[in-house]
Amino acid sequence: MRLQKYIALCGVTSRRKAEKLILEGKVKVNDKVVNELGTVIDIDKDKVKVNDKLIKPERNKVYIMLNKPIGYVTTLKDEQNRKIVTDLIEGVKERIYPVGRLDADTTGLLLLTNDGDITYKLTHPSNEVPKRYIAIVEGVPNKLELERFRKGLKIDGRYTSKAKIKIIRRYEDESILDITIHEGRNRQVKKMCEAINHPVKKLKRIAIGELELGGLNLGEWRYLEDDEIEYLKNL
Ligand code: URA
Repeated sequence: MRLQKYIALCGVTSRRKAEKLILEGKVKVNDKVVNELGTVIDIDKDKVKVNDKLIKPERNKVYIMLNKPIGYVTTLKDEQNRKIVTDLIEGVKERIYPVGRLDADTTGLLLLTNDGDITYKLTHPSNEVPKRYIAIVEGVPNKLELERFRKGLKIDGRYTSKAKIKIIRRYEDESILDITIHEGRNRQVKKMCEAINHPVKKLKRIAIGELELGGLNLGEWRYLEDDEIEYLKNL
């Protein structure tokens, strides 16, 4: 099996991040650093260490949905010592990690798993699974701005793909929007709203594809149902 796939299978991280670990020289096979991505290992015989810790395939795959509160980061370590989303998941012995990112000040649906294949599928740039957000923004976008948003906007020098946007509620100086994007670029919703001159005040993710946050309260989590796991596997 390819080394990066094995690392993901062991629940250490996604396949893509495993490649990074390999290139950084953090992976040893039989106590020798291996920093070539094509390396194939014998999973019954070879001993693989990541950061000098022996890793083993995780038999039990877990899939968790969390309603992320504000102030938590979706990385596993934070240089600024902010709180980490996995601190909210108690009683799960498997080593899980967040699928993709949500900004520290964004709330809502975050998946966590030790299934590297699902993480790979959901975070790969070619993945077009819709991600749906509710945003409170400054002002009320006009027709032209909504149209620009829908068609795709240039952010960081590159056009976004088509997106959906609907005004749910209008107030004098702010509005509530229902937004769906099909990519997962860094701070994408905020940058798109900024590009139409309606900066985001609050952002919450309510769905990833067919998976919906539903009535989960802030900071609460649950295991995914079998049909939800099946859905992810079939993506
Ligand atoms: N878009 C953003 O701007 N922030 C998030 O956290 C998610 C999507």
